Amino acid sequence: MDSYKYKYRPEPYRIKMVEPMRIPTREQREEAIKRAGYNTFLLNSEDVYIDLLTDSGTNAMSDNQWAGLMLGDEAYAGSKNFKHLEEAVRDLYGFKYVVPTHQGRGAENILSKIMIKPGDYVPGNMYFTTTRAHQELAGATFRDVIIDEAHDPENEHPFKGNVDLAKLQALIDEVGPERIPYISLAVTVNMAGGQPVSMANLKAVYELAQKYGIKVMFDATRCVENACFIKHREPGYENKTIREILREMFSYADGCTMSGKKDGIVNIGGFLALNDQELYQKATALVVVYEGMPSYGGMSGRDMEALARGLYEAADYDFVAHRLDQVRYLGEKLLEAGIPIVKPIGGHAVFLDARRFYPHIPQDEFPAQMLAAQIYLESGVRTMERGIISAGRDAQGNHYYPKLELVRLTIPRRVYTYAHFDYVVDAVQAAWNNRQNVKGLRFVYEPPVLRFFTARFEPIQ
Ligand code: F0G
Repeated sequence: MDSYKYKYRPEPYRIKMVEPMRIPTREQREEAIKRAGYNTFLLNSEDVYIDLLTDSGTNAMSDNQWAGLMLGDEAYAGSKNFKHLEEAVRDLYGFKYVVPTHQGRGAENILSKIMIKPGDYVPGNMYFTTTRAHQELAGATFRDVIIDEAHDPENEHPFKGNVDLAKLQALIDEVGPERIPYISLAVTVNMAGGQPVSMANLKAVYELAQKYGIKVMFDATRCVENACFIKHREPGYENKTIREILREMFSYADGCTMSGKKDGIVNIGGFLALNDQELYQKATALVVVYEGMPSYGGMSGRDMEALARGLYEAADYDFVAHRLDQVRYLGEKLLEAGIPIVKPIGGHAVFLDARRFYPHIPQDEFPAQMLAAQIYLESGVRTMERGIISAGRDAQGNHYYPKLELVRLTIPRRVYTYAHFDYVVDAVQAAWNNRQNVKGLRFVYEPPVLRFFTARFEPIQ
């Protein structure tokens, strides 16, 4: 849209069906957050007004996708919808083989199991919770090789998801290439704030990896957002289409895992894509154990059809540019209100810097966890912690202490309007105004793995 001249980019869709929602009263919210053990993951959806917990599986499908659901071929084997999904992945991303899975972590499980041996190292551009959990369960040690700028919420580097090649080289020198089965490269980087990786960096990582015979596996979960950032920010790409950029990005990878619940614009689904036939064979041998036949892998035929169509819709510039603009609108309004957020504003979410909200709360009293609870109390808006609770504990049982202690306001695709974001800004502003009166939290229950999903807390008096 070269002639773009609006105050903000208007929606490239209109609304055909609505889902009513309401703002719970202050009393209801106090009751609900206590019942949820101060963990927004444990709130009932009915107790939430605007739900910014995640952009995962919370997307609005198009009429075209809903129509696709009616064409589900629910054969146990050889569903035609699988063929459509396979064609879409080949056409848009350029991989030869597609293994469908019930969602992204299903693909992560299979990839980790077929590639990692105990004692291996997997470098990545910052960890993601489920990705690292599967790598560790398969016996690997994760090593963060993202650029230092990514750990600084104030730094405005345009490609904060980039790999620091010197860190990657240092790991190769330290442990040897034979103990690095693959590099795990997220495009964009969720935990860094939805930050993209530049094309130049993807290419450089691939070249370095090839020199040592190490494979590169993308976490393609938000690859379309990454492609749009490249178009907007990287010289030489301004006139390329999203599809052209995607094809070039994936030419620097040997395979990918994908959570279709994000840039696939569906509510469930995912896949593992590969070029190597031997790896593909190993993956199909495991998918039948953990997911289902290689032609459905945990999805129904209709789900695969919706995902195939969603992948095409997401690769359209009007869709993704509007999405990035919605996120930017929310972020810029918060900045205008003086709220500390991670900069630059990312692709799928705005991240609040909880350290600067609550400098008086030490990290092991969980400032971001408390901030998410406070925003809910103020407004009924649900957000999520992305700090020390999400980071979990190391093998010795000590907390990981991530530099970033954040609260994520995650924007579902095609669901909310700009007016909703104005309400969210007021909600965060209310929490900001009350920041001096807030204390930390302590655990009442802590699960052993991926603790953020089900942990319970109580306020420290
Ligand atoms: N990789 C990234 C970068 C993700 O953000 C997610 C999920 C996954 C992999 C796993 O995919 O949920 O389909 O199994 N992220 C969600 C979130 C949960 O809220 O950020 P999944």
